[in-house]
Amino acid sequence: MKKVLLIGADGMLGGELRERLEKKYEVIGTTLETLDICDKNAVLAKAKEVAPYFIINCAAYTNVDGCEVNYDLANRVNGEAVENIAQAAKENDATFIHISTDYVFDGKLDVEKAYTEDMSANPVSAYGKTKYLGEQNAAKAEKYYILRTAWLYGLGGKNFVKTMLRVSNNESVSVVDDQHGSPTCTTTLCEIIEAIMEKEPEYGIYHSTNEGFTTWCGFTRKIYELAGIKTPVIALTSKEYKDAHPESSDRPTNSKLSKEKLHQAGIFPAKWEDALQEYLKEELK
Ligand SMILES: NC(=O)c1ccc[n+]([C@@H]2O[C@H](COP(=O)([O-])OP(=O)(O)OC[C@H]3O[C@@H](n4cnc5c(N)ncnc54)[C@H](OP(=O)(O)O)[C@@H]3O)[C@@H](O)[C@H]2O)c1
Repeated sequence: MKKVLLIGADGMLGGELRERLEKKYEVIGTTLETLDICDKNAVLAKAKEVAPYFIINCAAYTNVDGCEVNYDLANRVNGEAVENIAQAAKENDATFIHISTDYVFDGKLDVEKAYTEDMSANPVSAYGKTKYLGEQNAAKAEKYYILRTAWLYGLGGKNFVKTMLRVSNNESVSVVDDQHGSPTCTTTLCEIIEAIMEKEPEYGIYHSTNEGFTTWCGFTRKIYELAGIKTPVIALTSKEYKDAHPESSDRPTNSKLSKEKLHQAGIFPAKWEDALQEYLKEELK
């Protein structure tokens, strides 16, 4: 059985991934309590002790607005610490799988188009900047996959779907309708990660989201439709949202990630609506 060092094994993605991988791999999971990725010596020692075939990093500072005010900490976790893991992978001849984000792009691409992996990153938010540094550091591992995901939700964490279900008792719900992307279920991202581990395609960056695109407003309407909720959903512009929440970080207008490269590797993620339907079956049980 191949060994996997799974870092961030109790996060929303990491928790689900751990459960799934344990059926096929010998998984050694770490959490912030057992391994702080900012502690270089600890990261190198853990990797040496485990001697893994794969190292997967699901740990991150994921509070997008929090990154604006806690930039130094976010940069250490999302950016600098990734170099520790890349070095650990290199020293142990392990393959490094690192999770990144659509926020590495500025989102200014024509919304009719989707970003491909070879397009230049130009992060605008603090979160995007720190994650982009993380990508550059992940690429220092000789064998690496950087999987950029977006709009992630899963059973094991706070997420947009849960928030929309919670606020559905309100008279109406107002949601931004001019930011475009792919809602992505952790289950689909786990399937993509497992396929990458099985197929081991060419190393590099892979856009890794559910198939298809919508807006946050479209996403909310679908959540309510599938959950049988009748609460009216009112479309807002990003400007209207920002005026009401001036402390919020700017979000990219276009977060559409092309899955062409993933398809070429023989990996075909589920459509976002189908993944959402499956998720809601569990969430609403
Ligand atoms: N959520 C999204 O919408 C989204 C979108 C695009 C990309 N992503 C990326 O997807 C990946 C997984 O996200 P997620 O939503 O599953 O994140 P999550 O639930 O916030 O999990 C991240 C985990 O990392 C841990 N952690 C934080 N600092 C650490 C450190 N210094 N050392 C070790 N562990 C540390 C956290 O511990 P504590 O909870 O104890 O702090 C948490 O368990 C991340 O790389 C994220 O950037 C997420």
